[in-house]
Amino acid sequence: MLTVDPADFARTMAHVPTPVTVVTTVDPSGRRWGFTASSFSSLSLDPTLVLVCPAKSASCHDAFVAADRFMVNVLASGQADIAAVFARSGADKFTNSPMEPCESGLPGLSDATARLACRLHEVLDGGDHSILIGRVEAVSVGGAEPLVYYNRLFTRPGGSPALASSA
Ligand SMILES: Cc1cc2nc3c(=O)[nH]c(=O)nc-3n(C[C@H](O)[C@H](O)[C@H](O)COP(=O)(O)O)c2cc1C
Repeated sequence: MLTVDPADFARTMAHVPTPVTVVTTVDPSGRRWGFTASSFSSLSLDPTLVLVCPAKSASCHDAFVAADRFMVNVLASGQADIAAVFARSGADKFTNSPMEPCESGLPGLSDATARLACRLHEVLDGGDHSILIGRVEAVSVGGAEPLVYYNRLFTRPGGSPALASSA
């Protein structure tokens, strides 16, 4: 079987620009959990499904795979500091963050570019990550320019629109 060095894989994937999200949930004891995630994608229109992948090593992992619901906050270009806080493993992420109860009472950012409140639909195995599939139950669009992660840096979409010659 052909294999690729994980470091080469990571270096290659750094060239793939991604959105930056903070995914949150609340466990049955009322404790809030959250992590910065770029592994967010739309999955299906009918039904409305998205996916996001927490690492099995993350301290929030078990709370997410056991959750009824979770919230995806798509960060705006001015929210890189929030992304940095929620990327710090084990840190107290919520005390000084502007998270407030939003759709379904889940922790959300009022000025996120977009929010998607999801019911946990299925959990699949994804190697050293789990794949959380969420059924989208409510959406909100703030519309601010999104934050982008590219080449291991937070950046902004910027640049001129690339026009397809056949469009
Ligand atoms: C831009 C960016 C994207 C990230 N995307 C993911 C991701 O998709 N899945 C993941 O498990 N961790 C991702 N991380 C790392 C987690 O945010 C980080 O490990 C987090 O602190 C785990 O939280 P916990 O261990 O406190 O639960 C990302 C970090 C950054 C900076």
